[in-house]
Amino acid sequence: MYYKNKPTFPENFLWGASSSAWQVEGATTEGGRGPATIDLNSQTKKPFTDNSIAADHYHHYKEDVALMKEAGFSSYRFSISWSRIIPDGDGEINQEGLDFYHNLIDELVKNNITPIVTMYHYDLPLALFEKYGGWNNRQIIDDFDRYARLLCTEFGDKVKYWITLNEQNMQIVYGDWLGLDKGVDNWEKEKYRINHIMNLCHAKAVIAVHELVENGQVGPVPGYVPIYPNSGNPKDQIAAMNAEELTEKMWLDFYVHLEYSPFILRYFKEYDIDIDMRDGDLAIIKQAKIDFIALNCYRSNVAADCPLDDKSVKLELNKNGEKGNFVYPKFPGLYQLMPNNYVETTDWDWEIDPIALRYMLRYVWDHYQLPMMIVENGFGAHESLGDDGKVHDDYRIKFLNDQIYQIGLAIEDGCPVLSYNLWSFTDLLSTGNGMAKRYGLVYINTTDEDVLDLRRVKKDSFEWYKQVIATNGQHLENQKKKNKNQ
Ligand code: BG6
Repeated sequence: MYYKNKPTFPENFLWGASSSAWQVEGATTEGGRGPATIDLNSQTKKPFTDNSIAADHYHHYKEDVALMKEAGFSSYRFSISWSRIIPDGDGEINQEGLDFYHNLIDELVKNNITPIVTMYHYDLPLALFEKYGGWNNRQIIDDFDRYARLLCTEFGDKVKYWITLNEQNMQIVYGDWLGLDKGVDNWEKEKYRINHIMNLCHAKAVIAVHELVENGQVGPVPGYVPIYPNSGNPKDQIAAMNAEELTEKMWLDFYVHLEYSPFILRYFKEYDIDIDMRDGDLAIIKQAKIDFIALNCYRSNVAADCPLDDKSVKLELNKNGEKGNFVYPKFPGLYQLMPNNYVETTDWDWEIDPIALRYMLRYVWDHYQLPMMIVENGFGAHESLGDDGKVHDDYRIKFLNDQIYQIGLAIEDGCPVLSYNLWSFTDLLSTGNGMAKRYGLVYINTTDEDVLDLRRVKKDSFEWYKQVIATNGQHLENQKKKNKNQ
């Protein structure tokens, strides 16, 4: 539906931004933090970039929160590093780690910024990987349960919104990219068993929040890439549905309905997959009723039919930010992804598709009827300080304007949305490109090659977002032009 007026946002809408511990904190060997598997990725696996400094938020958190306050934030989503709290994952608790997060949370609360906390964002304590293979072993269910319970008892009086595992679906779909496949002999065969272990960890965390946090609310956060059929060919529609099932619906169905869907059970049977479901697992899962669905959404996809006798093609992400390097995958018998000629792309071949957000919110609401939060959405770009010492990121302003406008339209359509937390407040390490792919409203003066003074410089998008927040969305335009000359 087209509306005559600008969309309006609810009065108590939570505006803010999002980050994760390993991408923003740095100080990996300070404050008693134990090593995490992601540290190794970032030191050895190009193009991951060394996370020992990142945006140095560990030392700048007060300054960063002051800037959030200046921007008018009412929420901030961040993650807690498991190995900062329990350095070896299952042993002694590190008081210095707890203190860091207490200080950060207190600083936020003092400034009327609601904390939204992710329990796990790709940074597994290395000791657990060395001891028993980490996510590949059911021992992690108890260890994660203990960690989640500790977070709830320690921070539960100040944190009411909890998110369990960041992008469990993407960790399974892109196992080789996010490091989950390490030490697993046959990833394609084993990944759904590992996913089942993660499902149990998610369930334990949901139960913990409900048991230990007064008025606590908890939800998952899938990485969501809405998928359109390539054409009006009915086969393309089924292919798009297959892609949807296997990249996101499998997870949302499970989180909400607390069981595997008939489609997925049939898929496991067809592909001879054993998820190692044990007695008692379902009883745990059935108690894990979530309160909201958080969503990360940056782009969309297009899927087309892919017959069984077609040749499979492995997906390759664009890892260097030069357009045209993304390889569209083919999964014979299921679907293939295709370029979308109706939308532009970023330098990393990510589709720039604001309407995807409206579509996603309506789709998720129609299927699950739970309140939603957008906790990641943003524009990654090559950036450096200009001659005037500033960053004029009109492309990001346009991107964010158009995306948030569509969220407003989804709200007008009847979707309950609690928050918008863009990615990211300061520049931070991209999962694939370090500081070479920047997302922030605030520039961090450092590069992958040289650590500079880490000074915070507000980009033009900072001032623009401040206006959006101050007007509760009325500063948004219906499709913004990139700059005045266009
Ligand atoms: C999300 C992740 O999927 O995408 C973030 O939760 C990540 O951790 C973000 O940084 C953007 O992806 P990238 O690869 O550009 O950093």
